[in-house]
Amino acid sequence: MKFFVDSADIDAIAELNDLGMVDGVTTNPSLILKSGRDILEVTKEICELVSGPVSAEVVALDADAMIAEGRKLAEIAENIAVKLPLTWDGLKACKVLSGEGKMVNVTLCFSANQALLAAKAGATFISPFIGRLDDINIDGIDLIEDIRTIYDNYGFETNILAASIRTVAHVQDCARIGADVMTAPPEVIKKLASHPLTNAGLDQFMKDWAKTGQKIL
Ligand code: E4P
Repeated sequence: MKFFVDSADIDAIAELNDLGMVDGVTTNPSLILKSGRDILEVTKEICELVSGPVSAEVVALDADAMIAEGRKLAEIAENIAVKLPLTWDGLKACKVLSGEGKMVNVTLCFSANQALLAAKAGATFISPFIGRLDDINIDGIDLIEDIRTIYDNYGFETNILAASIRTVAHVQDCARIGADVMTAPPEVIKKLASHPLTNAGLDQFMKDWAKTGQKIL
């Protein structure tokens, strides 16, 4: 499973990228706001740092304007994936932009039927939002499972990009089901390394090592 970082924070992306943990990046208007940066400038910097797909989201609501914005965003770098909302207009824009050979990430997907439409419109990535479904007491992981089954039934090549990931359990479930990609905030990716038994075991080893009175260096 590929790891995308859900962030527009250059320092956080760089730290994970140095460890080889970053296969791509996703941003959205809320993350651009949080970064306090200009969308074109920060997206360009991210594209220079990371060689994998970097999703940049349009903000227009009608298809023609989405296409125009998508073309402008795609000019930033070759690794831009134009992010479009899963609306009827978004699907129209997806068909046109993917037909031009641009990578397209269709976002704000909350049902398997929406994912089916995105695949038929030529999306490179479909982004089902797990956490926001969990927030309304619908199991977001079930949606990933359903989309995996449907895409495999018909051989759709659209990549399942599990999004709105809030917990380490979400990451493990996505990997088990076979999501192609997961995108998570940097803090969730870092938490994957933590386990209470690792901490307890290390603590014990350090105490015992001190008792030996030895040094390695
Ligand atoms: C994905 O592309 C979205 O930017 C993101 O995963 C949304 O996550 P949230 O629901 O935690 O805001």
